Amino acid sequence: MDDTVLNQVAVKLSEAPKGILAADESTNTITKRFSDINVESSFENRRKYRELLFKTKELNKFISGVILYDETIRQSTSENIPFGKFLNEIGIMPGIKVDTGAIPIFPSSPEKVTEGIDGLGERLKEYKNLGAVFTKWRAIIDIDENNKVPSDYAIDLNSFNLARYARIVQNHGLVPIVEPEVLMDGSHDINKCYEVTSKTQRSLFKHLNNQEVSLNGILLKPNMVISGKKCAKQASISEVASMTVKCLKENVPDEVPGIVFLSGGQSNELATEHLNEMNKSYTDLPWNLSFSYGRALQQPTLVSWQGNDQNIASSQEALYKRSKLNSSATNGEYSRDLE
Ligand code: 13P
Repeated sequence: MDDTVLNQVAVKLSEAPKGILAADESTNTITKRFSDINVESSFENRRKYRELLFKTKELNKFISGVILYDETIRQSTSENIPFGKFLNEIGIMPGIKVDTGAIPIFPSSPEKVTEGIDGLGERLKEYKNLGAVFTKWRAIIDIDENNKVPSDYAIDLNSFNLARYARIVQNHGLVPIVEPEVLMDGSHDINKCYEVTSKTQRSLFKHLNNQEVSLNGILLKPNMVISGKKCAKQASISEVASMTVKCLKENVPDEVPGIVFLSGGQSNELATEHLNEMNKSYTDLPWNLSFSYGRALQQPTLVSWQGNDQNIASSQEALYKRSKLNSSATNGEYSRDLE
């Protein structure tokens, strides 16, 4: 794939009225989600759940791509169609999470570095054969109470790895989604989130340039600039939209075709409202602004499913609804009355 094709894929993934469904929870994470609804996290239950998501009727009206996990891209529908092939057939692009998770930077460090560079080229060849056209790598940046975390070192190290990953992925003809997530856990206010998010994005683009990554063939998947979950003063919807857009304008070059936000623990409705506000109030931005939500798309579906086949139709309706509402938000056409 040349740069033009990478650009076309990145544009198509992020163009209104569509966004991305992140269904790439690791086995550990999906096990936690299943335990909340008392469902055993077996190989077959994980397959069944992902099949339920992907077979939601007319999902392709709102969803451009789905991010899969290593186990999932090797699984198939009940008719034995591999998920990668199935998604391609219904007009949804399959992607794959390629990082192997985050570990402490050194044994007693409170900060983490995301791993997975070793052997990445070989894995990419396999994923391409399984239908993947794009990839994802997530770096985690935490904010602590006493201003020691994040360190400049943790931001630099994670940005270097994100850029190295993006370079290798483009070498293999796939689109890299680069995800530097500043966590919303903690009691920090929106200004602190802005400061750390801005510093992280600045470092990331410095490293992407150093590694000569084609910026028109990536997607950025950032956190929104938002108050910490435990902060007493929660910023308003218009503050979140304006500070997020300010941060992006200061750090993200115009060549980047799209920005697809993560939901990061926001409520389903707020994740939709924030995206909507940005698309409604800032119409002259150089990038597509869309979503790549995990929890904010799937949460009502999981609750409705409860591991019971009789609930498949209602849980698919729940995914259809959140996908449709977030699709409206890509055009700034969402309102609470639609809930
Ligand atoms: P959330 O939307 O649940 O934050 O998940 C997005 C994601 O892909 C995290 O890596």
